[in-house]
Amino acid sequence: MRRSLFAGIGGYLPARSLTNDQLAAEYQLETSDEWIRERTGIERRHIANAEETAAFMGAHAARRALAMAGIDATRIDCIIVATSTPDQAFPATAVTIQAALGITQGFAFDLSAACSGFVYALSVADAMIRTGQVQAALVIGTEIYSRILNWQDRGTCVLFGDGAGAALLLADEQPDDAPPIGVLSTHLHADGRYGDILYIDGATGQNDKPQHLVMNGREVFRHAVGKLAGAVEEALKANHLTTADIDWLVPHQANRRIIDAMGKRLNLNDNQVVVTVDHHANTSAASIPLALAEAINDGRIKPGHLVLIEALGGGLTWGSALIRL
Ligand code: UT7
Repeated sequence: MRRSLFAGIGGYLPARSLTNDQLAAEYQLETSDEWIRERTGIERRHIANAEETAAFMGAHAARRALAMAGIDATRIDCIIVATSTPDQAFPATAVTIQAALGITQGFAFDLSAACSGFVYALSVADAMIRTGQVQAALVIGTEIYSRILNWQDRGTCVLFGDGAGAALLLADEQPDDAPPIGVLSTHLHADGRYGDILYIDGATGQNDKPQHLVMNGREVFRHAVGKLAGAVEEALKANHLTTADIDWLVPHQANRRIIDAMGKRLNLNDNQVVVTVDHHANTSAASIPLALAEAINDGRIKPGHLVLIEALGGGLTWGSALIRL
């Protein structure tokens, strides 16, 4: 059986990091550190400078994933970039990253699924690897929400940060009777009826007004735990596993309350849940690969561990994946 091995992971965060108080002062927001921490768990976030575009950050994260795996960029035959904040409508940010990495073979494209983007991109890359179309894929989430936030809307602008994460997947032939390693399964969902609770008001082609993120936070919250729990149940059932088999939950990092509720629902201890929302805020499609990079690089997640990832975002889109490292 052909599967996708998780061979490398890397993250990139802009150097500039702002605490809640610094953000409030800089943008003259009527908010408080206490409100933000209590409702979201966020303490600080990274904000990109002019040079740090989605492609710039994604390329840095990809180089780190390649270095970790000890793989030369010339072996990559597929780059999928999950982003809602591409450098340009086209060429795709994935193609800009391909050039930055000096890759001239294979193909590269962007994928838009908001905060679920990394799970979606992982699913597409895994399917292409399983069918034999791809040997080595870079799956990148890179976001620069600071450029699409309405800095007058305290209900949204305090929630997001910038950054990128990249995973390197390699095709691997595994015996049918051996315990599988790598991406075990992915489950994706979307329901466009809820497109109006989290969106960007405008498109690149409509340049008569600035594009801003708009969110009905309460409504998104209302959908989050139920839909995520459903996607997790599917993943476990498909692999004949139970919550007791999970070593780590690496959830999308939108809100500490949603993360804690999912951990509880899965009967996990706090020390089995990777949390970065406190120091990264919500980096949308970048949040899961950034969290994976942090927990793999600091030695918490080890080879052989079973990792569950899940995300929900604009669309609504949501999904889950199980990975045996
Ligand atoms: O990654 C995509 C997925 N996104 C999410 O998962 C987000 C899910 N939603 C949430 O995380 C929460 O809904 C928020 C953190 C966004 C908001 O928390 P909430 O408990 O739902 O607050 P709310 O929007 O209902 O607002 C409560 C109050 C309002 O004041 P009034 O009307 O009660 O007087 C807001 O105006 O809090 C006020 N408020 C603020 N106050 C201080 C809103 N934002 C702020 C702020 N500082 N930054």
